[in-house]
Order: sequence, then structure tokens, then C-alpha cells
Amino acid sequence: MSGPTLSDKIQEAAAAIRRLASKQGTSRAAASPEWRPEVGVILGSGLGDLALEVEDAVRLDYAEIPHFPRSTVMGHAGTLVMGTLEGRNVLVYQGRVHYYEGYTMEEITFSVRLMKALGAHTMLVTNAVGGIAEKLIPGDLATIRDHINFMGMNPLRGPNAEALGPRFPRMDDAYDVVLRTYAHDVAKAQGLDLKDAVYLALSGPSYETRAEIAFFRQFGAETVGMSTVPEVIVARHSGLRVLGVSCVTNALHGTYEEANHEAVVAQANEAKPRFIRLIRGILRDLPAPAPTATSGHH
Ligand code: HPA
Repeated sequence: MSGPTLSDKIQEAAAAIRRLASKQGTSRAAASPEWRPEVGVILGSGLGDLALEVEDAVRLDYAEIPHFPRSTVMGHAGTLVMGTLEGRNVLVYQGRVHYYEGYTMEEITFSVRLMKALGAHTMLVTNAVGGIAEKLIPGDLATIRDHINFMGMNPLRGPNAEALGPRFPRMDDAYDVVLRTYAHDVAKAQGLDLKDAVYLALSGPSYETRAEIAFFRQFGAETVGMSTVPEVIVARHSGLRVLGVSCVTNALHGTYEEANHEAVVAQANEAKPRFIRLIRGILRDLPAPAPTATSGHH
């Protein structure tokens, strides 16, 4: 007998979330069966505190959600938070799971399938990155302009579930230019020097050698990290609009700080107030998706 399909698992998880949410009281909008998120937010290493600011929040432990993988890394909580931020319905993943933890690509991108199934039209994905380009210094925030998939794996490998998206989704328009331009307008109004960078993803968990960094720089990579690309590929397959924001936690140039996880989390924590202000500002007047723009369907 074959087990449940990916579509079955997504529907089961979405139904369980609605059921568990409805048990958390009638006063909160997200507990209602009609509630729909507009934006799904994935919070990276050290950036999870934004989830604490969600209003009228319904909170679920990842462990309560069927088929949902649990996160094992320090700095990643493992809580799904549904509610409002700046008046916008959000579904926030406080803590993500990574490929290097040993999960499959399907598991690490399940959160993205789920936000789509629950009704989100936009994914706001965040991460901690090493800065390869000299313009990037620790503490900088940067939108993701484009990516290089150097993980050696693609989450869409295997039979394509036609109901979820096309076999061969384009990726040249992965990071929505309208949202990215808008994010820079918001930053400017806040007096924040928001950068913009090409992100290269590796499977990790080892950090990079100096020879690898020199190689990636010549490739056109400006930041490096161990996440995000699988989520973005699946988001685009699903027809979700994507905005990516990175926090530069260490510089892989100049004096070249040794990357280590504690320092990465500490630096992300330092950037947190600016990060939270930027994300709140972005959510406040988020442009509506263009009706024809980002359909991943066929
Ligand atoms: N390399 C890979 N991933 C990272 C780094 C880095 O230097 N900093 C934060 N995430």
C-alpha cells in the first residue's frame, strides 16, 4: 500500500491547524474557520522574536501539526503563530528546519506548501547570511535579489504533483521586483540603509573554506547561507509571491571573521530591532499581488 501523497499530507495538516486553532478561543480571529493568512513569514536564525509581536495570536507547537517536521537547532523555536501584524493577517513560522539536520527537501518545504494551502498569497522569507561582497558588513539587512542553488538538490525532484504547480516552473523572476522595490522605499523612509544581494545556498552544516568563498565571489554570489532556496523554489512552484530579507551576521572578506553559530545568532539578535521595524513597515502597506503576476499554475 502506498502512503498518503504530498497533497494528502498538506490537507491533513491544514485541517488539523484549523481544528487546533478553533480550540484556542472564540475571541481571536485566527481561531475562526474563515480566517486566512495573507502573508506567510519564515523567520531565520536569531530573528524569531518577531513572532512574539503577533497580535490576537493563536500559537501551535510544530509537534502538534501532522506531517510537520520539528526543528532541532539552537536559535529556532518551532512554533506556528497565526494572527495580525500591522493589521495584516500573518502566519509566522518561528523557527525553520534545515536540510543539514537530515530532513528531506519535502519536509523542509512543507511549511511553504502549508501557507499556500491555508490561503497565503505572499511569502516573506528571512535568513542569517555570511557577507561575501565587500559592501556587506555584519548587522546589514539586505533584500535577496536572486539566488544560486548550490545545495546539490532541488525540492521539486521526483514526480510532479500537477495540482500543486507546474513541472518546469520558471525561476528567473523568483524574487518579486515590485515587493523588493517597495521594501527599499520602506527602508528609505526609516533611514535604514537596506542592501540588495545575490544569495548562494549550500547544504551545510560545515562553514565554507576560504577557497570556496573566493570561488563563490567570482560566481557572482554576494551572500551565503544554508536555507531559503528550497523554500523559494517551492513557493514559486506554488504560485506564491516572494520577498526575501537577509541579515548579514558575519563578513567573509577583509579581516574575515570566523563564522560560528553562536556569533551568527548574537549578531542577528543585535540587528533584531531594525529587522522587526523593517518587516512591520513592509507589512503595513504591502502592495496587493497583481491578479495575473505570479500564477504558478498551468
Ligand atoms: N556561512 C554559511 N551560512 C551562514 C553564514 C556563513 O558564513 N553566516 C550565517 N549563515
